[in-house]
Amino acid sequence: MTKLFTCLLTVTLLALASSLASAHDPSSLQDFCVAVNNSNSAVFVNGKFCKDPKLTTADDFFLPGLDVPRSTSNQVGSNVTLIDVDKFPGLNTLGIALARVDYAPYGLNPPHIHPRATEIQTVIEGTLLVGFVTSNPDNRFITKVLNKGDVFVFPMGLIHFQFNIGETNALAFSSLSSQNPGVITIANATFGSNPPINPDVLAKAFQLDKSVVNYLQQKF
Ligand SMILES: *[C@@H]1O[C@H](CO)[C@@H](O)[C@H](O)[C@H]1NC(C)=O
Ligand SMILES: *[C@@H]1O[C@H](CO)[C@@H](O)[C@H](O)[C@H]1NC(C)=O
Ligand SMILES: *[C@@H]1O[C@H](CO)[C@@H](O)[C@H](O)[C@H]1NC(C)=O
Repeated sequence: MTKLFTCLLTVTLLALASSLASAHDPSSLQDFCVAVNNSNSAVFVNGKFCKDPKLTTADDFFLPGLDVPRSTSNQVGSNVTLIDVDKFPGLNTLGIALARVDYAPYGLNPPHIHPRATEIQTVIEGTLLVGFVTSNPDNRFITKVLNKGDVFVFPMGLIHFQFNIGETNALAFSSLSSQNPGVITIANATFGSNPPINPDVLAKAFQLDKSVVNYLQQKF
């Protein structure tokens, strides 16, 4: 039992180390690996514990309800429903996730980063102004207006956004190249961190008066 535990621990640490080193999802080592939390009922280790393949059912690979519009009555007027491995254990080790994004008229999915995924987005309804900014030193802004049926790709790790410039609701679906893409919303992470970043740091970094930094930190 102790031997098995040590072995499992080693495998887990190795998996962790290799995923840190490559910063990508590991490629699949078997057909699938439905995630379970309880290691007693698990057989393989690959990121998360896997359900015994013999015990998997179609429901492990199924998730209903993405047709239902989400509420967009919030400050930014958008709502992202991210289906990652925590919501959908069947995604474990498969290197993929999905999002439904609802936009109110003039709603914004604010500038953000997915640290571990490239995103490919299809517009189902409405008109979106989208864009991303390339890394230093160019910081080139690449932007486009998308209509129904249009597809756009946001490369991994770059700041991007979508803004509904139409007078109707908009809807888009995105696929992301990680089971756990992660999200860093720039404004929230910068001005709403916990605990707050020293205002002197933000004042200098953003070339702002400290009163403006204090104001922004209160907002977030
Ligand atoms: C595993 O635990 C996490 C965190 O407590 C929870 O969000 C998730 O739904 C659980 N997954 C399963 C398959 O039970
Ligand atoms: C997104 O929509 C769901 C369902 O309508 C709602 O429960 C949730 O609070 C909304 N999230 C935001 C950030 O508005
Ligand atoms: C960002 O901060 C605003 C203001 O506090 C909050 O309403 C919003 O939910 C936050 N967004 C995210 C993605 O955490």
